[in-house]
Amino acid sequence: MNLTHPHPDLRERRSPEQDASPERDLFAVTAATSATGSAVVRALLDHGAPVLAVGRDRERLHPYAERGARTHVSPLDDEERLTAAVADATGAFVMLAPGFIPDSPDFQAYQRAVIAAQAQAVRNAYRHGRLRRVVTLSGWAANHPGASGPVWGLERLERAIDATGVPAVHLRAGWFMENLLPDIAAIRATGATGGLLPPDLPLPMVATSDIGRVAAEFLRGVRPFVPGPVEVTGPADRTLAEAVRLIGAAVGRTARYEVRTADDVRAALTAGGFSDHMADGTVAMTLDVAHGRIRMRRPAGTIVTTTTLEEFVRAAVTTS
Ligand SMILES: NC(=O)c1ccc[n+]([C@@H]2O[C@H](COP(=O)([O-])OP(=O)(O)OC[C@H]3O[C@@H](n4cnc5c(N)ncnc54)[C@H](OP(=O)(O)O)[C@@H]3O)[C@@H](O)[C@H]2O)c1
Repeated sequence: MNLTHPHPDLRERRSPEQDASPERDLFAVTAATSATGSAVVRALLDHGAPVLAVGRDRERLHPYAERGARTHVSPLDDEERLTAAVADATGAFVMLAPGFIPDSPDFQAYQRAVIAAQAQAVRNAYRHGRLRRVVTLSGWAANHPGASGPVWGLERLERAIDATGVPAVHLRAGWFMENLLPDIAAIRATGATGGLLPPDLPLPMVATSDIGRVAAEFLRGVRPFVPGPVEVTGPADRTLAEAVRLIGAAVGRTARYEVRTADDVRAALTAGGFSDHMADGTVAMTLDVAHGRIRMRRPAGTIVTTTTLEEFVRAAVTTS
């Protein structure tokens, strides 16, 4: 996938202390208020690394400024403002966000604009600035050449960043544990949740906090930076049946999971405000997971993170 060769700077052997040196480094994090982007920012700040947090809303960036980060207001599809944001960065984390715009009439057009803007900002900073490395949030859907719906853009983002020539690691993360947050709310309210996915399908569940830590480690240079895609998954594949049992126990009710048909899911999505386009795409993406077209390949070098489903559910039930 990624055929770039390491930039000459990366061939130097540098100590982790040098990489974290405040005079030397600045790490730009786009979509800094997203679940994953915020985890990257936190992980960098926790190590005293200099951060430039980029988001569309100044107020929502304020907590990072309070922790010492520089902030920059830019929508993800604004090439000029993103270019200004990344201009001084030595490393950047880029991603497609949000995962869904429910009422979008053309989500691919939005993703195309975000990909173009991010790639142009990265290209400018690599050619004319100090940018040495990029980490992208991709996803396991990028393993499936026919991926469509909300995950259409992931592999395209990887390719666009690679085309800039910058050394880039693409995190092909598995199924976010955060996808369970609506299930927690539903089980609390009614004791039931459900969907298109079979309850006994093992899913590569991973916490976004762990993905953020991994991204920060690549940016800080404490993980060997080998450009190309790398899969990121949790400590074990888990099923929705297991998740629902754990959530039920944590909220103190017997919980059940109902398998729903594609038509029922689509109707529920449109009743909830999804455009026809987004509802169709979401159903198609979910069927790709249900039928194994979207799956992890687990090549050598796959990163296995530590947060267990039990830990995630316990924390999420307490805080949500
Ligand atoms: N879910 C999964 O299982 C999974 C697995 C692998 C990969 N992925 C990929 O991960 C990415 C999503 O990551 P995430 O869950 O961390 O992101 P997220 O939390 O869905 O993203 C929220 C971000 O998008 C911004 N945003 C919200 N609505 C917007 C709108 N209408 N227009 C422009 N920006 C908007 C938010 O800005 P404000 O804070 O200012 O509102 C916030 O920064 C997607 O590319 C997805 O394909 C997901």
